[in-house]
Amino acid sequence: MTAPSGRLAIFPGSFDPLTNGHVDIILRSAHLFERILVAVLVNTEKQPLFTAEERVEIVREVFREYQNVEVETFDGLLVEYARRRRASAIVRGLRAVSDFEYEFQMALMNRHLEPTLETVFMMPAEQYTYLSSRLIKEVFRLGGEVRGLVPPAVERWMRHKPAVGVK
Ligand code: PNS
Repeated sequence: MTAPSGRLAIFPGSFDPLTNGHVDIILRSAHLFERILVAVLVNTEKQPLFTAEERVEIVREVFREYQNVEVETFDGLLVEYARRRRASAIVRGLRAVSDFEYEFQMALMNRHLEPTLETVFMMPAEQYTYLSSRLIKEVFRLGGEVRGLVPPAVERWMRHKPAVGVK
């Protein structure tokens, strides 16, 4: 692997949609690393709420004022993408013990594939430990309130999604 450029960290995920838990992790990472690249995985679900391009647009809108937060889509192997972008770390959020097994497996598989790439785990603020994109979509679809759980921009985008419906 070529030498990493500066201290670029990649925060990969589906972000369908971006939650306040994701925002919390991105802000924490932006303090720790020179640059943080939010990497939106293309084609996660057969029927995502937002297209990858929409998810990128949302992240861009939310972090417009943060010079060191960038966003783009990626597909294929994460380690290959990290190699191309010359990243030195992958950031992942850990909410609860239940996240641990999946995250541990992924981190070790990624290390097996690329030993020089570190995975850094960060804990979101306690009030976001129960948040997940899946639950946000479900609550919203069933008419529940998602204010305070996602950035206002996400709420706005969700309201304009005919598939989800206007509350
Ligand atoms: O937010 P998510 O859906 O939990 O993110 C999962 C993600 C995107 C980090 C993971 O699925 C991933 O890295 N996918 C890219 C394909 C890959 O590299 N798979 C092997 C991982 S060990």
